[in-house]
Parts: sequence; C-alpha cells; structure tokens
Amino acid sequence: MPDIKVINEVEAMQEISEFLRLSGKKIGFVPTMGYLHSGHLSLIKKAKEENDIVIVSIYVNPTQFLKGEDFETYPRNFEADYELCKNESVDYIFYPDNLQMYKRNHMTNVMISNITTKLEGEIRPGHFIGVATVVLKLFNITKPHSAYFGQKDAQQCIVIKRLVEDLNVDVKIEICETVREENGLAKSSRNVYLSDEEKENSKVLFRSLELGKSLILEGVNETDKILSEMGNLIKQNIPGVEIQYIAVTDNELLNNINELNNYTGNVLISLAVKTNKTRLIDNILFYKN
Ligand code: PAJ
Repeated sequence: MPDIKVINEVEAMQEISEFLRLSGKKIGFVPTMGYLHSGHLSLIKKAKEENDIVIVSIYVNPTQFLKGEDFETYPRNFEADYELCKNESVDYIFYPDNLQMYKRNHMTNVMISNITTKLEGEIRPGHFIGVATVVLKLFNITKPHSAYFGQKDAQQCIVIKRLVEDLNVDVKIEICETVREENGLAKSSRNVYLSDEEKENSKVLFRSLELGKSLILEGVNETDKILSEMGNLIKQNIPGVEIQYIAVTDNELLNNINELNNYTGNVLISLAVKTNKTRLIDNILFYKN
C-alpha cells in the first residue's frame, strides 16, 4: 500500500490537484479539523467509493471559533489521524498551518445572510463566516469534483449548499448520515471532553430527538408542546444542563414551523446543549406528509 502524501503548502496542493484533474481523475474531498473518529471515517469511505482520489484536509480553522471558545484546547493528534487515513487508503492529507491558510493580509470573507444568523449562528455569531470562508478556500486549493459533509452539523450542510449554489462553485456536495455511539450519542471530536457519566447521560439527546419526531409523525400540531416535552426529558436526565436551543424548522431556510398540521416536507429538529463545560449539538431530519 503506497504511503499517503502529506501536503503542507497551498501551492503544492493546487498543483497536485490540477495535475490529477488533467489526468482525468475524479477527486473526492473531505474537510475536517482532525481528531478523526468513525463519523469522519464514514465520509472518507463514501468519498473513496465514489472517486479515484481522496483528499482529506486536517486544519483547525481559527476563524470559526469565537473568543472564549475552545480553539486552543481543541483536541489534536496528527499521528493517530494519519494512521486512520492510511487504513482507509486516503491518497493525500492536506495539513497546512495558519500562515499557509491566512497569509499576512487576509481580508476577504464569505458572509451568507439569513440562515447563518439562526440556531448555531445566533449562539455563535460569526462562526459561519469562518466556516464558509475556509471551506471555499479549501475547495479552491483541493479542486474537488465532490465534497463530503456530515448531517451531524445540519446547519453547516445547509450553509455549504447555499454557498455552492449562490457562488456557482463547481463542486458536488454529498451529505452523509450521522454516525452514533451504540447508545445514540452522536460521535464528535469534542466527546473527549465528557466524563463517562456525562457520556451516559447525553444519550438522552438522541432519545429526545426521536421523541420529537414521533410526536410530529403522530400528528401533534403545536411545536411548543413538542419542544417542552423534549426539553423536560433532557433536563430530567442531564443534571445542570443548559439548553441553548431546540428548534423545529424546515431544512433549507431554517424557518420555524409552528403549526405542524399545515406543513408537508422535510422537518429538521435540532438542538444544542451545554453540560458542564462541553457544548453538544445534534439533530434529526425526516419527511412529514
Ligand atoms: P469537523 O468537526 O472535524 O467535521 C468534519 C466533517 O465530519 C463535517 O462535515 C462533520 O459534519 C462530519 N462529522 C462530524 N461528526 C460526525 C458524525 N458523528 N457523523 C457523520 N459526520 C460527522 O465540521 C468541521 O470539522 C469544520 O467546520 C470544517 C467543515 C472542516 C471547516 O473547518
């Protein structure tokens, strides 16, 4: 098995990608912030199935963290990530430093309106400017035909699809299902911050999403009733939890759905909570007739 090539420089990565494209290779790209787990690996496996070449980027992007968030302490382990990528026969890891990504006079940012100020964007103002900017830069560097994102970050998926559509970016966006622990907790690099007890308690997040979904599919009309049942279930199971939001929205504009009986289409229930010091997000997406 040939070793993976690790590329640190923007120009070198661009030259390789250009050459691969000219050679007729299909490039699949998986952007990550590293500390890889089976959620990331599911994206890599899908990219591997559907392309000739897979590029994974590992870059903890400072501009998507707000002041006071966990940028400095965000878990990092390049050696372990390298081995995991090797097991999946990844072809290239793009692993730049901050100076490569943001040269001294970086001034251009991608600001998507409306959808980026809701949910995560309301709690983390500016977060999606950082995400959209770095993802567009990574697309311009790795020149993929297709790029793979996880439904775990539902709003990020919507934002990236908007970016690609609005700016005519020539990349196909593929969304992959959320990978979970056996108990239902969504896999996340940040789960390392949780104690065993917190991990056990946090399985209620997925249970609450499933509860919300079943209430909706059973025909409950008032969203408020669903939100309060979900909230109560979470509070009963995670001592001291702070619920930042629980929302029932559509899956494109993220508009709240208040009267469910009048609504047909995709329903996204998403939530964010803080347990002790750890922030967790999760969601469930389904179709309502
Ligand atoms: P990161 O949190 O490392 O996630 C990289 C990709 O893996 C994202 O598309 C995310 O949705 C997906 N992912 C994470 N956990 C998952 C799970 N349990 N199941 C399925 N997919 C999962 O998201 C980012 O990095 C950054 O914002 C990035 C897009 C790289 C831009 O910096």
